[in-house]
Amino acid sequence: MSLFRKKSLDLLMNEADDSEKGLKRTLTAWALIALGIGAIIGAGLFVRTAAAAANNAGPSVTLAFIVAGIGCALAGLCYAEFASMIPIAGSAYTYSYATMGEMVAWIIGWDLVLEYAIGAATVSIAWSEYLNKLLAYFDLRIPYEWSHSPFEVLKGASGQVVASGIMNIPALFIVFVLTLLLVRGMKESAFVNSLIVIAKVAIVLLVIALGWSFIDPANHTPFIPEAGIYTDDQGVDHNFGGIMGILGAAGVVFFAFIGFDAVSTAAQEAKNPKKDMPIGILGSLAICTVLYILFAYVLTGIASTEDFRSTGKEASVTYAIQTHMTDYGWLGKLVTVAILAGFSSVILVMLMGQSRVFYSMSRDGLVPKVFSDVHPKFRTPYKSNWIFFVFVGLFAAFVPGDIVGDMTSIGTLFAFMLVCAGVWVLRIKRPDLPRQFKTPLVPLVPILGILVCGAMIYGLGWTNWIRLLIWMAIGVVIYFAYSIRKSKLNNPGK
Ligand code: ALA
Repeated sequence: MSLFRKKSLDLLMNEADDSEKGLKRTLTAWALIALGIGAIIGAGLFVRTAAAAANNAGPSVTLAFIVAGIGCALAGLCYAEFASMIPIAGSAYTYSYATMGEMVAWIIGWDLVLEYAIGAATVSIAWSEYLNKLLAYFDLRIPYEWSHSPFEVLKGASGQVVASGIMNIPALFIVFVLTLLLVRGMKESAFVNSLIVIAKVAIVLLVIALGWSFIDPANHTPFIPEAGIYTDDQGVDHNFGGIMGILGAAGVVFFAFIGFDAVSTAAQEAKNPKKDMPIGILGSLAICTVLYILFAYVLTGIASTEDFRSTGKEASVTYAIQTHMTDYGWLGKLVTVAILAGFSSVILVMLMGQSRVFYSMSRDGLVPKVFSDVHPKFRTPYKSNWIFFVFVGLFAAFVPGDIVGDMTSIGTLFAFMLVCAGVWVLRIKRPDLPRQFKTPLVPLVPILGILVCGAMIYGLGWTNWIRLLIWMAIGVVIYFAYSIRKSKLNNPGK
């Protein structure tokens, strides 16, 4: 038995060849960028931005986007080296199994559950908020009790509790519908994906362009609030203002960048993966970073921090347009519909990413076989999809969006740190491996990547550190109790 046993690159390539039969290499660099943007723009921008402004940074959430963007660019440069080194479908899990050994691969694979499954729960909760906004246009509404978790309460003007959440049914519903589509083998077609990408980018640009003249300088003053503690209406304390506020907000809005690594899972279908993967990953990241910074600047200029703490806490973008850009009612409606469609595509990509990672882990023997059982007719890992429906659904229905959002951020930041470290270690240990794209300035870029991602983890605060530690501790127990014994590499011939 060995914790550091590695899957050979030849074996990996052979497996990939098998599964790649029939897949056409059609995706160009532009198509990969579109794929990235499709997976990136979502709840992070349309929900978490306002949450970070309210709880952590006020208007300086704009600066937080710059910090998060820098962290992602540094980690993205490292991801791109991995993706170009092993140009097959996969994710950080596959890359690390081939290069850093089983134990690290397990840790990353387990950690990716936070990114994909818990991330899907976060976006489904955000979907529920915007659904209620859409229904409001028809004078309909899902009662607070049935669209919020049991850990949330609605307070009236004088602070009295007017309603308590029981279960978030719309969030559960959207996870169910998308799981059903996944089980039936529906892949989002490239055409639908392009439509959604165009819609998402268009509404971001429209809000920036039309909202610019509605910026009230008073909302941007002071741009960096004085450091202190803010206790939100649910009784949770947050570092607000100053540097800590910006770091905390960066950890929160980091969620908005999650998904650019999803481009790496499409390596099998890329025309020229070695060259186009880095362009796809870094290109989609660059475009989103610019859009996000401008969007955050406009949104926090249209509505005040106080708005985002009270009436504009949910579905904040529609709220800001309805309340402060009153001539633009049509924009509010358009934004709401586009956001609902956009969120659905993000959830679909995340659920699919989750089942792919566990499929690979199951084929390697690290998680039970049920995760790689394929449906006789639809050829999908349907059992895995249903198991994750239960898992994701429980979080979607019963946990507040803030908590799952921050768990997703911290888990993904941790995975990024491991990827940065991995690139550096491999340069030393395996300088011989061919690398089509090389991360510049190693070890400076990986070290800075680790530092910036580490700073965001620091900003997310101790409750989130404990959640991450508990999750990883559960993972280590499972690894030593189960995976290490069942691993196919450790049991050749079985
Ligand atoms: N980046 C994706 C989002 O913001 C996960 O929804």
